[in-house]
Amino acid sequence: MMKKLSLTLFACLLLNGAAIADEPGFKWDRATLKLIAGGDAAKGKQVAKKQKCSKCHGDTGVSEEDDTPSIAGQVPSYHFKQLMDYQSGDRDSRTMAKVARKLTREDMSDLAAHFAAQKPEPAMKQGKPMLVYEGDMQRLLLPCNVCHGKNGEGLGFEVPAIAGQKIEHFIETMEAFKEGDRENDHYGRMRFIAEQLSEDEIEELANYYSAKPVEDDDS
Ligand code: HEC
Ligand code: HEC
Repeated sequence: MMKKLSLTLFACLLLNGAAIADEPGFKWDRATLKLIAGGDAAKGKQVAKKQKCSKCHGDTGVSEEDDTPSIAGQVPSYHFKQLMDYQSGDRDSRTMAKVARKLTREDMSDLAAHFAAQKPEPAMKQGKPMLVYEGDMQRLLLPCNVCHGKNGEGLGFEVPAIAGQKIEHFIETMEAFKEGDRENDHYGRMRFIAEQLSEDEIEELANYYSAKPVEDDDS
């Protein structure tokens, strides 16, 4: 009981304060949250069509490649922030920088609303990794589900859904946090966590949260 309580308190601390260096430029404020809440899914669908998001992310935001993230059912504010981070360069991707450059903030909030309404793939849920449910206090690792939700569905406005994510993207982005190549997470929360995970642990977590790998056609 005490352990649960102190874990929760620690989570609140990490979610709210305890600033660490290398903060991304993006700032949450009321105007931004309002803009996102007002996102128009029908307009977002039009923008997605014009910008050909489906070429890489699939017709309904479920990607057909294991190394391209799915964006269906994503928490809209997380989606919005990623597009802003690609535009500013705080999250490094040549491909997405090219896409984000053409978008206004309104486009981004409309796109986020459109893709949030799409259905994600189910997670594989292989095994029951200790790190998901209990974390590891020895290493100050909170359980993933404290932040990402009981079923990996995301939480609040900052924490993304990770259930049904594409497996190679999941592993690659965890490794990018681990190496510091992805550094757009506020307070360095994901970097702090990923830094301490072994490759085996990352794989175990991927097999739990990710969607089944895409079948190879030519076999
Ligand atoms: C040419 C292929 C391509 C196109 C077109 C494209 N994307 Fe992406 N997208 C990617 C790749 C690859 C990544 C992963 C980049 C990385 O590792 O950061 C990505 C990442 C993202 C992410 C972050 C996902 C996450 O889970 O963190 C979002 C959100 C996103 N794209 C939205 C869009 C939207 C909206 C459009 C259309 C306006 C779009 N993308 C068009 C290839 C593409
Ligand atoms: C203290 C809260 C917290 C905990 C605990 C936490 N995360 Fe996260 N995670 C976040 C936040 C916040 C982000 C979004 C960072 C950003 O803005 O890009 C994130 C992002 C991610 C992403 C990137 C998603 C994508 O689509 O690119 C993955 C994967 C992830 N977390 C996996 C995990 C796993 C696995 C665990 C458990 C070992 C975990 N997280 C524990 C807060 C947390």
